[in-house]
Amino acid sequence: MARTLSFPQGFFWGTATSAHQVEGNNIYSDWWKAEQEGKVPHKSQRACDSYNRYEEDFDLAKAMHNNACRFSIEWARIEPQEGKFQEEEIEHYRRVIRAAKERGLEPFVTLHHYTVPQWFAEKGGWTHKKAPEYFERYVQFVVERLGNDARYWVTINEPLILLAKGYGSGSFPPFKRNNFLGMLQATFTMIKVHKMAYKVIHDRNPEAKVGVAHAINYLESSGGIFHVLQIPVVFVLRYVKDQWFLDQIKNSQDFIGVNHYRRIKFSFRRGSFTEGDILSDFGWEVYPHGMYHVVKSLQRFKLPIFITENGIANAKDDHRSAFIVEHLQELHKAIEEGADVRGYFHWSLLDNFEWAEGFHMKFGLVEVDFETLERRPRPSANTYAEICRTSSLEIDS
Ligand code: FCB
Repeated sequence: MARTLSFPQGFFWGTATSAHQVEGNNIYSDWWKAEQEGKVPHKSQRACDSYNRYEEDFDLAKAMHNNACRFSIEWARIEPQEGKFQEEEIEHYRRVIRAAKERGLEPFVTLHHYTVPQWFAEKGGWTHKKAPEYFERYVQFVVERLGNDARYWVTINEPLILLAKGYGSGSFPPFKRNNFLGMLQATFTMIKVHKMAYKVIHDRNPEAKVGVAHAINYLESSGGIFHVLQIPVVFVLRYVKDQWFLDQIKNSQDFIGVNHYRRIKFSFRRGSFTEGDILSDFGWEVYPHGMYHVVKSLQRFKLPIFITENGIANAKDDHRSAFIVEHLQELHKAIEEGADVRGYFHWSLLDNFEWAEGFHMKFGLVEVDFETLERRPRPSANTYAEICRTSSLEIDS
């Protein structure tokens, strides 16, 4: 028997992107420099050229019956040299926000999505003692000008992932390996700058809603002979990676943004790893039930929740539709049980520059031909469009 699962009134349906991954020619950022120096394996170059093609991109989102969109502002464009703020880049983002609104897309604007200006990185980045001051200047400049153009603001994308990759594995700028002191310092800076940005945005626009986009993948014990011993460790790790940061910013957030992709299994024998029957092209386990657990675990904060990212690298597009439907089904279950979820943003609208993986990982509902930059919606875009159009799911039960 078919059953219709309806989402709450006013639910936001959108996609998410980030500036460096889609705009192209982000030449003043730390990532660009790392790409030119061969410190990361791929170059973003013109990416999807969304800096020039944002209207076409929003047309695609509109055709998918979206009513919201998440994108980021690039600090390195706004302040390419220290203290040299670019009014014309503000005008660019004003046009972007306007173009979204003209298409009925509520903008969710991210202020920091992994990249920083080269000058800031050269000074020492997030561990520099004046880092909060520098970031505040940027936030002030943007918010003074655009603070009333958008209602929803994401201050920082995945603070802890950024730091784990930048100071732990060393795979992202500033490429520090096992630098735990740096990671700790940068983490406390992130807490500080989030609180500051929250205040700056609210001072400018009391109606604004502000949060972070926090990476919360679902951690479980792998089972096996150490299962009983692993459970308490998982319990602690879950708190540290999923909720500790949110507790630190408790009184400075209007919503919780959740980036959720996968299940990770913890094992004493093999460290943290993923496994499962269906893997994405990235090797990430597809585990829709994780969505339910993650959302339920956040209910204690008593704040609205937005799924600010959820998606799959799947070039063949043979798993994406099921991925969307199954994750939304789990999300709906959490909502039925009282979770206050207000929106879902699929990662991503387009295939894009997937950081250290370059253009190989295809996360797009829309395929991009990087030779011609032609955009072609994949079949899964139709699945998502129908869900967004009706704000509901049809499932067999
Ligand atoms: C998230 C990032 C986003 C993208 C997806 C696949 O962790 O926020 O930029 O890379 O993963």
